[in-house]
Amino acid sequence: MPLTIRQVGPCFAGEVAGIDLTKPLPAADIAAIHAGMDKYAVLVFHDQDFTDAQQLTFTQSLGPLELAIGTSLRRPEDHRLPTTFADVSNLDRDNKPFARDDRRRLFAIGNRLWHSDSSFKVIPAKYSLLHARSIPSRGGNTEFAYMPGAYDALDQETKDLIEDLVCEHSQMYSRAKLGFTDFTPEERERFKPVRQRLVRTHPSTGRKSLYLSSHAGTIIGWPEPEAKALLLDLTEAATQREFVYSHKWRVGDLVMWDNRQTMHRARPFPHDEPRDVRRTTLMGDAPTVAQQAA
Ligand code: OGA
Ligand code: MN
Repeated sequence: MPLTIRQVGPCFAGEVAGIDLTKPLPAADIAAIHAGMDKYAVLVFHDQDFTDAQQLTFTQSLGPLELAIGTSLRRPEDHRLPTTFADVSNLDRDNKPFARDDRRRLFAIGNRLWHSDSSFKVIPAKYSLLHARSIPSRGGNTEFAYMPGAYDALDQETKDLIEDLVCEHSQMYSRAKLGFTDFTPEERERFKPVRQRLVRTHPSTGRKSLYLSSHAGTIIGWPEPEAKALLLDLTEAATQREFVYSHKWRVGDLVMWDNRQTMHRARPFPHDEPRDVRRTTLMGDAPTVAQQAA
């Protein structure tokens, strides 16, 4: 059966049928998936019975992997998964949900703010692939917002204002929004801000989009309150329901999103129930802006 894609979101997001991602894929299917990602920005594949190795193999068939090193508060000895995976679950090494006040859990609550993955890295992520192994009894949707649509809807004055702006992104900025500020000196060094353009152009579609993320905390050359107020306004405009697809998870779903044209956020769920979702990530190809000399 050939691969088919049906739009499920308001102006983006497609549900793919007719493909088993656990098997090696012919080049035509890989090309169709990339084309689908360019067009829909989010693709949903149901009933993918992945092992970790199969998820990795599929991910690497699409491009080079971004490793998850030093991006969470899990210490190396706390890791449940190898660094080829971002462990987005709420589980410790023994597959038990973190206690409500566990610092690693509180840091991970940052995922409930709208963001684009690895916008805090000099070269931010291309695609993220999130697979559901177990899900809570309620809540825990993932929502996606479509940034080319949000950009197009801005008035011309705003487009002109933001065209060349550069923001600084850090995981410390997103966590500060939730009152999480007790970083150690080592963490402050590791989470040093990086620069990203506020308007970026997609290399395949040529469309401009808003490159927003809760990790963005400053705009170069702007007073901080004015910068933060603009970023809040833009985020509010970009996440109106007409630009948002909300994914309700089923076990076996693989959801893949293009971080260059979407933001996403997790929704709350009961903290004592396991939510085992595992992310592999494709590396982006370049910085969005030249970085400040160290
Ligand atoms: C991620 C992420 C949201 C969720 O995997 O990068 O932000 O719903 N996930 O778990
Ligand atoms: Mn994320």
